[in-house]
Amino acid sequence: MTYLEASQRQVAALQAQEHIRVLSLETSCDETAAAIIEDGRRILANVVFSQIDLHELYGGVVPEIASRAHMEACDRVVDEALSQAGMALSQVDALAVTYGPGLVGALLTGVNCMKGLAFAAGKPLIPVNHIEGHVSANFLTHPELEPPFLCLVVSGGHSHLVEVADYGEYHLMGQTVDDAAGEAFDKAARVLGLPYPGGPRIDALAEEGDPHFLTLPHPKLEGRYDVSFSGVKTAFLNAVHSMEQRGERLPKADLAASFRFAVCDQLAEKTERLLRDRLADGKHPVMALAGGVSANRELRRRMTALCEKLGVPLYLPRLDLCTDNGAMIGAAAYYELKKGKVAGLELNAAPALRFV
Ligand code: KG4
Ligand code: ZN
Repeated sequence: MTYLEASQRQVAALQAQEHIRVLSLETSCDETAAAIIEDGRRILANVVFSQIDLHELYGGVVPEIASRAHMEACDRVVDEALSQAGMALSQVDALAVTYGPGLVGALLTGVNCMKGLAFAAGKPLIPVNHIEGHVSANFLTHPELEPPFLCLVVSGGHSHLVEVADYGEYHLMGQTVDDAAGEAFDKAARVLGLPYPGGPRIDALAEEGDPHFLTLPHPKLEGRYDVSFSGVKTAFLNAVHSMEQRGERLPKADLAASFRFAVCDQLAEKTERLLRDRLADGKHPVMALAGGVSANRELRRRMTALCEKLGVPLYLPRLDLCTDNGAMIGAAAYYELKKGKVAGLELNAAPALRFV
């Protein structure tokens, strides 16, 4: 029997088991993270090793440095997760790993680490889409949340409005036509001379600033629920450069607040349009947020106010589960396992993997 056949049998047998514990690993970008998750909902261990210190010097993630750092940290975070949960590898039912999207070298490091571990331990390996992981962070935060619901996925590489029709089943409603929200935040931060990663720094600085200091463009787009951040970014860049050329001192808090307002305003507007359309159709929409940018204070406030106004239930992921972590991968893996999805040893990294 091949490893894959043995895994498929195990996964079939696990369907009848009362509790399923998954050991997961996430290495798609600059966090090496492992977790142990029970039944897709309970965190038994959650270990995140951030590489930010290594990349800060370069103002962004350096792929080669990321791969090397993942290689050094993989075993350590996995061991730490097992010891945090007080479990031996033999007590885990399945392993899971992010196989895309992300940096190819970073993904490969994690995929190879978990393939080796799964083969040696004779355990099934569940391949997980990173973005599905972000959505699943909500299942860890809100044990009562079940599909269908609408989700605004906003991360370093994604700005998508989707309908989560069922576990692992997504329908695209709208998306960015250019930059992702997180990418835009990071670029604006760089213009202000803030260190990497810029999103959280802009957010913190913006708390003290005037969001109406600078009026940034609000694009009109063909797609009913689409967003665009490249015009906002360029207008911001030009405004900052003209101030610099005039020798003016940059009011960084006001600039950060204006930029954050422009990004959140578009996201809130398109979400409102989608929710109102659903309500007009007599539906009862439920809203959730996911991805690194869902940690943004202004976005959380705007969405909370919007959903209160419309009487729509809103689910926000726990702050530490918004950005990359292993727990969300273990949560998503549970529902993949329930559908019988399992990887063979030919599993490869898929840097451009889609989720809708
Ligand atoms: O989801 P994530 O951790 O990684 C990806 O899958 O991309 O998202 C990282 C992105 C970065 O662009 C980071 O600047 C942004 O999320 N981010 C934030 C905040 N926290 C993280 N952006 C705005 N406000 C925040 N508080
Ligand atoms: Zn992510």
